[in-house]
Amino acid sequence: MTPPHVGSTHQEPASWLVRARGITKAFGEGDTKIPVLKGVDIDVASGEVLLLVGPSGSGKTTLLSVIAGILESDEGDVQILGESIQELSASGKTNFRRDHLGFIFQQFNLLPTLTAAENAAVPLFIQGVPKLEAIARAEEVLRTMGMGERLKSLPTKLSGGEQQRVAIARALVGEPQLLLCDEPTASLDGETGHRVVEQLCAVGKHPDRAVIIVTHDSRIFEFGDRIVHMEDGRVDQIQQREADLL
Ligand SMILES: Nc1ncnc2c1ncn2[C@@H]1O[C@H](COP(=O)(O)OP(=O)(O)OP(=O)(O)O)[C@@H](O)[C@H]1O
Ligand SMILES: [Mg+2]
Repeated sequence: MTPPHVGSTHQEPASWLVRARGITKAFGEGDTKIPVLKGVDIDVASGEVLLLVGPSGSGKTTLLSVIAGILESDEGDVQILGESIQELSASGKTNFRRDHLGFIFQQFNLLPTLTAAENAAVPLFIQGVPKLEAIARAEEVLRTMGMGERLKSLPTKLSGGEQQRVAIARALVGEPQLLLCDEPTASLDGETGHRVVEQLCAVGKHPDRAVIIVTHDSRIFEFGDRIVHMEDGRVDQIQQREADLL
């Protein structure tokens, strides 16, 4: 592994997939108001794997949710594929997410009455892909994750690591341009975790796609093009893979 280099962010790649500027977000009101994001600027280039690391409570999940348009920031602007997310209507945001984003939540958010394959197929159902085709595509992704024996199981019958793989398959199945992952390997053992990390990072090898991975998992670090460190609601440091600077 080439050790990342602590460096500047002032690089001008051909195209940015995400450009966020001056993002602030507080929770609560009045005396109990807690500022969580305190002015975050972050860019993600097409073809990039960007890792987001930092202590618990530093604002990583909040930032991912703002980028996805799931949570509204108080100030600042997020552009994805040149579109200002906060300027979209509620249905515009939903459609934008359906068409361009995949999200792996820290909590897996699986639907309890659907099988593993049906859960993984949900984004395709929403896109209007016929049911049998959607399930067949979801099953194919699940099989690549070693889940071939669990396709028809309900979430309650799956282990934590199996549920996590269903959540990952659900994010990958629609081949989104931007994949947002919150601790995607926390419940996965060595071999499975390695395979899944490779699948997630392969998304960033595609010139028109990118992936942001929030992680504490040092197994992932070698796959990151850049590692963004968050501390107390701010971007504290950005490490760039040294090989890319040469
Ligand atoms: N809906 C909410 N209401 C109030 N406070 C919140 C809410 N969501 C997050 N917070 C607070 O915002 C801070 C940042 O939370 P966030 O989940 O973004 O941290 P994180 O960096 O993802 O942490 P972890 O590594 O533990 O997942 C925390 O102090 C948390 O308590
Ligand atoms: Mg979090």
